Amino acid sequence: WGPTGHRVVGKIADNYLKGSTKRAIQKLLNRQSLAFVSTYGDEIKSDDRYRKFGTWHYVNMEANQSYEDSEKNPKGDAVVGAEYCVSVLKDKNATDDDKAFYLKLLIHIIGDIHQPMHAGLAADKGGNDIDVKWMGKSTNLHRVWDSDMINGYDMSYTELASNADALSKDEIKHIEEGTITDWVNETHTLANAIYKDVKPGDNLGYKYAYNNLGIARSQIQKGGIRLAKLLNDIF
Ligand code: ADE
Ligand code: ZN
Ligand code: ZN
Repeated sequence: WGPTGHRVVGKIADNYLKGSTKRAIQKLLNRQSLAFVSTYGDEIKSDDRYRKFGTWHYVNMEANQSYEDSEKNPKGDAVVGAEYCVSVLKDKNATDDDKAFYLKLLIHIIGDIHQPMHAGLAADKGGNDIDVKWMGKSTNLHRVWDSDMINGYDMSYTELASNADALSKDEIKHIEEGTITDWVNETHTLANAIYKDVKPGDNLGYKYAYNNLGIARSQIQKGGIRLAKLLNDIF
């Protein structure tokens, strides 16, 4: 996602944290909010010292594969990255500086694994190589889902974040189920459908948003709820 998607994931997660989790996280993050630190993973991308985390934002799988039977990126991927972050946060011997760093990355990665195009095909770099137009302006399918659709639409950060309140306890419980790998497989299934629906050169606009904005919103909501679940289990 772009900044808006990540911040909303952080904001929604914040609503689902237990008091004790919140306190532990506030201490590690010097009282910065989850929403504020959620974009950190992208902010360090241009810094050579952090190059090795570049592949932790996404996974690539063939259309007919699930994560378990896909060929793994030797440089690592979002599942490997998220699981590493969790392991550092659970490590009694890890420093608070390391925990803060990997907490910020985890907040980012759990957001990204809910963006359908972050679990797409390697051949087109998760839609980055599929040129399309958004409301007549040149972009690509990956960017449509990262940001064009949610930013270009008339919907504020607060509006996106508040929608999570409408879920029942059972719905939330259902969303919380599964592992990071299960969540990635679910995201990949959405990617498969998105690929089928779009051709290079398509001009996507209101009709596309009408059909897909609900998916983006629901994915962002799941990301927030699942991030909170992971953090409540860790802290
Ligand atoms: N961003 C950069 N490369 C990517 C890929 N192969 N899949 C998804 N997102 C990406
Ligand atoms: Zn992206
Ligand atoms: Zn990212």
